[in-house]
Amino acid sequence: MQLSLSSKHATVEVTSLSSASSRLSGRLSTQRHTMHSLAIEKSDVSASSLSATHFLRPHLLKLAAYTPIEPFEILSARYGRRPEDIVKLDANENPYGPPPEVREALGKMAFPNVYPDPESRQLRKALAELNDIPMEHLLVGCGADELIDLLMRCVLDSGDKIIDCPPTFTMYAFDADVIDARVVTVPRLDGFKMDIEGVKHAVEVHKPKMVFLTSPNNPDGSMMTDEEIKAILDLPVLVVLDEAYIEFSDVPSKIKWVQQYNNLVVLRTFSKSAALAGLRVGYGSFPLAMVEYIWRAKQPYNVSVAAEVAACAALTNMDYLSTVRNALVCERERLMSKLKEIPFLQPYPSHANFILAKVLEGRDAKALKDGLAQQGIMVRHYAKKELSGYIRISVGKPEHTDALIDKLKSM
Ligand SMILES: Cc1ncc(COP(=O)(O)O)c(C=O)c1O
Repeated sequence: MQLSLSSKHATVEVTSLSSASSRLSGRLSTQRHTMHSLAIEKSDVSASSLSATHFLRPHLLKLAAYTPIEPFEILSARYGRRPEDIVKLDANENPYGPPPEVREALGKMAFPNVYPDPESRQLRKALAELNDIPMEHLLVGCGADELIDLLMRCVLDSGDKIIDCPPTFTMYAFDADVIDARVVTVPRLDGFKMDIEGVKHAVEVHKPKMVFLTSPNNPDGSMMTDEEIKAILDLPVLVVLDEAYIEFSDVPSKIKWVQQYNNLVVLRTFSKSAALAGLRVGYGSFPLAMVEYIWRAKQPYNVSVAAEVAACAALTNMDYLSTVRNALVCERERLMSKLKEIPFLQPYPSHANFILAKVLEGRDAKALKDGLAQQGIMVRHYAKKELSGYIRISVGKPEHTDALIDKLKSM
């Protein structure tokens, strides 16, 4: 079901997997399930006559599959190219890799046979020092992805609402769908600017429990100002500020703000600037009154020994991290100027390690993405209607930019 509400401020859409009709069918199927159980007791229906889907929560049967990005091995087999001949600019990964200390520490990992520290103490201590925040605020996860999911499971009951501001990171809406929450959509304005008045209005009307803010935003790389974030923090709602790409911007993280705002969670990751996407480490800074309960709900061994060892080792070489960060920021500006020379692309200014470009002159963005992939260059295209005319290009090494621009010029 889609419900549209217009106001002078914003158009707000509430989408729900388990909308009225599917809720009804959910209820009916619950009744059917009960009857089924009785039938099983009475007439000994064999398990083999039941479909396995019978056991699933009904709303999950309507869940759209998440479109993941494929790793090198899969791309290599699909396009018949060696992994080293693939230019992978589709997942905002960091092509420089982590500092050399990471491989060294992984090689020397002392106790892979023993479960990891459920409190990731060594890493949290290092992060607390780095960010100048008491470690009690910090919780580490299997990527920021896990923390988004964990937080939602702790905050939302089935039917509770979140505010999502698309186009943005699609995991917020996806995770909400998985737990049968409702997604109130406040679309971004021209130039992907956040519709602050629209969010305020939606909070008033829909009484959501959470708002997801992403700064820099994925997929366009735009940022929110401090004033905009504060305006949302004034609202009676839990604000999740996702700073996965903050290192590539010129502004400091808001991670310490959780000490002043009891409705703020800030999420960070080692996947992007620290180049540890494959090891899955993210962290969040939470209000103290809340973090205790998130701990209780967390899987005890969510962060592997390898992940913690790697993240701690990465933090021992901040010079390397800042050199790589500066190289990517510098390359972003070069990529931007080159993309501006391509007549059928309109790139958007970005504060992250990727650039979104609108595909012009009647060209089909999906065909452009597929054409580049055939030539070994992976960029991101989105099936979603509002982004179907765009491609997103991660910032790579200078030679990656050159290869991409060469191909684009020949297309
Ligand atoms: C905005 C945003 N948040 C979070 C994540 C997930 O980060 P992680 O790899 O730590 O799960 C991503 C990954 O692309 C992202 O774009």
